[in-house]
Amino acid sequence: MFQNKASRWIIVSLTLVFSLLLAGLPSVANAEYGDVILNKYSDANDMAPVIYPHWFHRIRFQCKVCHSELGFKMKAGGNDVTMADIVDGQFCGMCHNGEIAWTTENCELCHSGKPGLKSGIIGTHKTLGPGIW
Ligand code: HEC
Ligand code: HEC
Ligand code: HEC
Repeated sequence: MFQNKASRWIIVSLTLVFSLLLAGLPSVANAEYGDVILNKYSDANDMAPVIYPHWFHRIRFQCKVCHSELGFKMKAGGNDVTMADIVDGQFCGMCHNGEIAWTTENCELCHSGKPGLKSGIIGTHKTLGPGIW
């Protein structure tokens, strides 16, 4: 009985330590759960796919800023965004213009994915919560 509990505890602690280590490791693709990959045109133009940290933005702006005013469809992979549009001040370029956020010259901050990643959401589409768990 005691041994069982002890070994379970060890496994739990090791898992925790391991996940913390993993979380702390820098990686090429900084993709986290809930991030969205945009790769309709990037790979095809020899540019790393875009990893878009959706939650980072969701906690800062109201949904309608992007999904109504800026015209982003609420569907992973559902938007046709080009770099020309962005530089022109549309989509990401509405904010990444050196005023609200850093400029589009920081290519690698957006184009941070590993080549070959498919457009879509990292993890699941469903937001888990009461009623589902
Ligand atoms: C700063 C801009 C921005 C804000 C704010 C924002 N979104 Fe998004 N959202 C996006 C972009 C960009 C995508 C990815 C579109 C694509 O892949 O073409 C997206 C994708 C989505 C998706 C589809 C992917 C998924 O998670 O299933 C949903 C649903 C969504 N947003 C809901 C919301 C809700 C709800 C809010 C507010 C709580 C919100 N968004 C706030 C920009 C934003
Ligand atoms: C604020 C975020 C952001 C920054 C910064 C950024 N890009 Fe992009 N870029 C995007 C998004 C989003 C797309 C559309 C992704 C897709 O669907 O493939 C894109 C697409 C592209 C494409 C695909 C072809 C095209 O014409 O659309 C190229 C090439 C590109 N970017 C080059 C660059 C270069 C070079 C820089 C730096 C000078 C840069 N990007 C900086 C977000 C960004
Ligand atoms: C409504 C305004 C807004 C829009 C639209 C927007 N961003 Fe941002 N974004 C911000 C702000 C503000 C920050 C924080 C800047 C800072 O820390 O100086 C940010 C930060 C980021 C970061 C860095 C996150 C981090 O962990 O520090 C990335 C990557 C990024 N944006 C990509 C994008 C891409 C790609 C798009 C388009 C698909 C986009 N953003 C559209 C406002 C926006």
